[in-house]
Amino acid sequence: MPAVARQLRLKLGVVGKGGVGKTTLSGLLARAYAEQGRHVVAIDTDSNPNLGLSLGLSLAETEAVPVLPRTAVMGAGGTTPAHELIAEYGRATPAGPMLLSAIKVAEAGAGCTCGGHATVRSLLADALEDVDLTLVDMEAGLEHLSRSGGTLAHADLLLVVCEPTRKSVLTAARTAALAAELGIPGVLAVGNKARGPEDVAFFRDALAAEGIELAGVLPHDAAVAAADQSGVVGLLPVAPDVQQALAEVLAALEAAQVRLAG
Ligand SMILES: Nc1ncnc2c1ncn2[C@@H]1O[C@H](COP(=O)(O)OP(=O)(O)O)[C@@H](O)[C@H]1O
Ligand SMILES: [Mg+2]
Repeated sequence: MPAVARQLRLKLGVVGKGGVGKTTLSGLLARAYAEQGRHVVAIDTDSNPNLGLSLGLSLAETEAVPVLPRTAVMGAGGTTPAHELIAEYGRATPAGPMLLSAIKVAEAGAGCTCGGHATVRSLLADALEDVDLTLVDMEAGLEHLSRSGGTLAHADLLLVVCEPTRKSVLTAARTAALAAELGIPGVLAVGNKARGPEDVAFFRDALAAEGIELAGVLPHDAAVAAADQSGVVGLLPVAPDVQQALAEVLAALEAAQVRLAG
């Protein structure tokens, strides 16, 4: 139902503990939305940006994506409309989404990244008329939710990625609490790297105990890990069980959007 889907614009922050799979999931989700014919803008906020790799760019192409200027966009005190920033700084990717790089620390001691966070905040605040999904792949940590103003304050939903460890679920619980303080309307969890039914049960029970909805569970995929290790360039075929899990996550996101819109 493209007509319905098109009305529902989503600003999504992908968050969670370091190494849980935020960038991997961000790439897969952004690609899945783009494959449905939707206009997707994916924003990398890692100071060591690598979302481009997950969207099929080479390392050199990923490193060549220009970093957004540290100025707020129009409507948030700046002078540049969001669509102009995207046109100038965005780069098309083989996976389909337009990639923006918000923060890069090129040299040691180059200073703080507050300006980049402010730019992402104001990009999310600005209504992007023709963008169906704005996805922000966040740097690990909770700073972006507690940083004065909150980089993700204008997100509609947060997707908090967990691996089957207690610590990653604890991070999810803290994230959900901070998101509520910031007034972000919804938080959903995705379990990643599940090696079997015990891990799926762990996600279900541990997240339910924290009152966080589980949108889906992605299996541990040896091909994903191997591609990362070998540095293979380009888009990987998505395994059927990963595709199935992604479809569940997409459905849960759309259901959450409908709930929030209602
Ligand atoms: N479903 C998965 N199966 C196997 N390995 C995975 C999976 N998701 C992520 N990984 C691996 O885990 C590591 C961290 O993933 P990454 O997406 O970079 O995490 P983050 O962005 O949260 O730091 C990478 O080596 C990646 O290839
Ligand atoms: Mg990452």
